[in-house]
Amino acid sequence: MSARKQIERTGVLFVCLGNICRSPLAEGVFLHLAHERGMEDRFHVDSCGTGGWHVGERPDHRSVAVAKKHGVKLPSRARKLDPFEDFDRFHWLIAMDSENEREMLTEGAPRERVRLLRSFDVTLSGAKAADLDVPDPYYGGVDGFDQAFSMIQRACAGMLDAIC
Ligand code: 4NP
Repeated sequence: MSARKQIERTGVLFVCLGNICRSPLAEGVFLHLAHERGMEDRFHVDSCGTGGWHVGERPDHRSVAVAKKHGVKLPSRARKLDPFEDFDRFHWLIAMDSENEREMLTEGAPRERVRLLRSFDVTLSGAKAADLDVPDPYYGGVDGFDQAFSMIQRACAGMLDAIC
């Protein structure tokens, strides 16, 4: 009898401030690209915010719109980072900007598992950490969401190349 194949999933958690604009986009794009590569089953993917203002809400309608334009679904509702659980469950803790990164480190995240998402964008190799933020589009216009999507898409593709 053949042994049942055990698939060890790699946990990837995308983290921003509110978990309604950038990190849900990163979660959806990463899953979309992993699916295109036939690798979806290799990952356990989620997103959260360091702040709790929007817990339980669906992603911002502007994130939903830009994702839809690119055929990407945004599956989850907002939740707040839970350092005790999340730092244990997820292998990769991926910050959208340096403030999210600093917040996770302050909360006790293991340094070797924390990365800025855009550090995986190969076109940005050599850039300073300060230039690797996905700027928060929440208070701006729709353009900011298009720009965030492009940044996230390039970085998620680079991340898949790097960790697979
Ligand atoms: P996100 O954007 O961190 O990309 O989800 C934000 C959403 C909401 C707020 C801030 C940033 N807020 O202050 O409510």
